[in-house]
Amino acid sequence: MPFDHNDHYHRLLLRQLPPGCRTALDVGCGTGRFARRLAARGIVVDAVDPAAEAVAAARELTARELSTRELTAAAGAGERPRFRQADVTQVELPRGHYDFVSCLASLHHMPFDTVRALRESLAPGGVLVVLGCYPERSRTDWAWSLAAVPVNAAARVAVALAERVRGGRPAGPGAVRAPVAPPRMSYAETRREAAVLLPGCRMRRLLFWRYLLVHRAPDGAGAPGGAGGN
Ligand SMILES: C[S@@+](CC[C@H](N)C(=O)[O-])C[C@H]1O[C@@H](n2cnc3c(N)ncnc32)[C@H](O)[C@@H]1O
Repeated sequence: MPFDHNDHYHRLLLRQLPPGCRTALDVGCGTGRFARRLAARGIVVDAVDPAAEAVAAARELTARELSTRELTAAAGAGERPRFRQADVTQVELPRGHYDFVSCLASLHHMPFDTVRALRESLAPGGVLVVLGCYPERSRTDWAWSLAAVPVNAAARVAVALAERVRGGRPAGPGAVRAPVAPPRMSYAETRREAAVLLPGCRMRRLLFWRYLLVHRAPDGAGAPGGAGGN
């Protein structure tokens, strides 16, 4: 696969899991790579996406991955995520239920205030993470993009070489690409909206044309996580 900016941040996102996390929702799961990583940790995962082809590929890739794990008796084999073909803005999410809600490069496909419903679906102490995309509008945006260009080029070369060693690109469900859309809300606008809808959230820029937004629901005994970021 080509160097994937979203996959590159999986480990960073997994570090945001709250202790003892048992339930998760992945919004705009695409072909399910992040949902599978959550499930491999023993988390019960609901994963939604309206794209039929992506959800079909997600189910098939999961079945393949689990059968390979069973054959190799690899450690960490978890449950399969519950993939659902659905538009998250049209489904009723359970309130106060999920320990972790993730949105990887998908929030800009829907109205930003969808985060309201995602926030309300969090259990006490639950964490909402958004790996978001934004268009370049300010000098600072352009400066970050410029800095990303050489690193991105080097990463692409490294991934292409690794692919050649492995014997080429995958075919079948492994070749399915989730739908993409250009982001419209600037980093500054997103920051302003997030401060209103997710008070106390933290937001910061990441190198590869992404931001990370983290919101922690009050745990019932204390206040939400602190503000900050750039
Ligand atoms: C750029 S892809 C990202 C896929 C995946 N999260 C990843 O990291 O590879 C954006 C995904 O959001 C999904 N999406 C678009 N609108 C959505 C909605 N209303 N509800 C849930 N998912 C949506 C698209 O179908 C697509 O699979």
